Amino acid sequence: MKELKGMAVLLTGGSRGIGPMLAEALANRGASIALTARSTDALQDVATRIGKLGSRVVALPADLGNSSQREQLVADVLKEFGTIDALVNNAGLETEGAYAELSWPAIRETIEVNLVAPMALTRLVLPGMIKNKAGHIVNIASIAAKSGGPYAATYSGTKAGLAEWTRALRLELAGTGVQCSTIFPGYVLEVGMFARFGMKPPWIVGSCAPSQVAKAVVDAIEKGSAEKIVNSRPLRYSFMLNELSPALGDWLMRISGVVDFQRRKVGK
Ligand SMILES: NC(=O)c1ccc[n+]([C@@H]2O[C@H](COP(=O)([O-])OP(=O)(O)OC[C@H]3O[C@@H](n4cnc5c(N)ncnc54)[C@H](OP(=O)(O)O)[C@@H]3O)[C@@H](O)[C@H]2O)c1
Repeated sequence: MKELKGMAVLLTGGSRGIGPMLAEALANRGASIALTARSTDALQDVATRIGKLGSRVVALPADLGNSSQREQLVADVLKEFGTIDALVNNAGLETEGAYAELSWPAIRETIEVNLVAPMALTRLVLPGMIKNKAGHIVNIASIAAKSGGPYAATYSGTKAGLAEWTRALRLELAGTGVQCSTIFPGYVLEVGMFARFGMKPPWIVGSCAPSQVAKAVVDAIEKGSAEKIVNSRPLRYSFMLNELSPALGDWLMRISGVVDFQRRKVGK
């Protein structure tokens, strides 16, 4: 079991939603945290609040869609902490709607923030981790990575890409001391991109609390778990059905009301 106490963690998506809860859970374990997002004031507020728990927390604003800002961010964290022991790629964008009607810039931005940024940040921190023979990359995917949601095709594609890229990297890095984990939250209640819709997810799909996602991230680093689905229903079985028979999996998505729910969510 690894100790989070004293680790320097770079956490993206720190300004709102699930991010502040992840920061709180990491701070409660004694980790130093570099928080990033674009909203400078909100980020500073979160850093000040979490800093009161006793850990060192710094707010380093950056637009993760911008490659030079990503590079500057990593340089700034190294200047602050001297090392990056864990990177938690939590920032994400949900660009929902009928795929044919979405603008290309919106689609590109979603890919950039959800997939390109985690890959790029990882590439920036990995040489140091490999040199230290220790490090952890935690990527926040979604159950949409296991079963793509209609009207969220870009989001689902980025999350599926993130998950399989993490799996490949985990295998590649075995034995180096660097570990990689993927967290697959279901619809998150209370805060975040789903809670803002103010809708109740279909019974069969279940949901989860942000505190459960935070616990999964802490567990991933401390116990080195490879993957964790965070949800109130045993969705693993319907994901297995998707693999065995995609047609049956699609049918289940329709009759369980998930397709209609996703349609209503985007006002279609
Ligand atoms: N909420 C859910 O139901 C749910 C379910 C499954 C998975 N997830 C995943 O969990 C993660 C967190 O989601 P959430 O619900 O907390 O979302 P959220 O409330 O919308 O927060 C998204 C975070 O990402 C940051 N962000 C967005 N674009 C950015 C950019 N270009 N540069 C830097 N930061 C950027 C935002 O900060 P700024 O706007 O200040 O930049 C914010 O801190 C995401 O990866 C999401 O896909 C969420």
